[in-house]
Amino acid sequence: MEEINKTNYYNKDINVDISEITDGIYRIAGFSNEFGITFNQFLVNDEKPMLIHTGPIGMYERIKEKVKELIPLQKLAYVSFLHFESDEWGGMAFLESASAKLVCSDLSSKLNIMGWYNVPVDHISVWDNDILKTGKRQFKFIMTPHVHHWDSMMIYEENTKSLFTSDLFIQPGNNKPVLSEDLTESMINLYKGAGIFASEKPVRITTLRLENLLPNMVYPMHGSCIEKSLFSNYTKAIMKNDFAYSGILLGQKLGNTIS
Ligand SMILES: [Fe+2]
Ligand SMILES: [Fe+2]
Repeated sequence: MEEINKTNYYNKDINVDISEITDGIYRIAGFSNEFGITFNQFLVNDEKPMLIHTGPIGMYERIKEKVKELIPLQKLAYVSFLHFESDEWGGMAFLESASAKLVCSDLSSKLNIMGWYNVPVDHISVWDNDILKTGKRQFKFIMTPHVHHWDSMMIYEENTKSLFTSDLFIQPGNNKPVLSEDLTESMINLYKGAGIFASEKPVRITTLRLENLLPNMVYPMHGSCIEKSLFSNYTKAIMKNDFAYSGILLGQKLGNTIS
């Protein structure tokens, strides 16, 4: 048993950098020594800019400063999280900006947003294949249940063919904003050691669907962005390797493992 005295939010001291990945799509990322991964947020600039993930609350101030380098905060129109988890949207304070509206999956809305104390209630709830236009961008929402969480979704920006996959295709380490090497082995080992997927099946169903979109760039929440020339390495690795939970959670072994 461990008594936790929450005097410090995690990731509070992480430095955050911005890089433009594709025309007007920015990666705002910081590397956590504690977890050995980066935490990436994406600002998609447009007439109505969208921030995809907010980072955990400890990173909020630093991420906010970077967003302000790109746009005035009051211009932020949408804040989207892809499943209900603190690194996805611990920075919900972005919604204090008067114009910003939360966008989340129908299940995130029904299971979480509507039922918690003091969580913003006004939001846009989306379902599979719903489209949101923000100016020259067009976002399609893809429901991806049980790819890590019940309420998970992903986002595809159709004009630039940009695919935001949250915790799918993530890699450990602090590498360049866009990958030029194959880190699929590290990805599989990370999944095995973290235990974030209950089973391979829903992840593979989603992977096949994403592959058919033929994205130009993939934007995972941890690690580097993946160019289209390397993307098939990642989809193949998911299809042919086992990576589901096997009794290890964030590197710690449980006594009663699944056989
Ligand atoms: Fe997650
Ligand atoms: Fe995550």
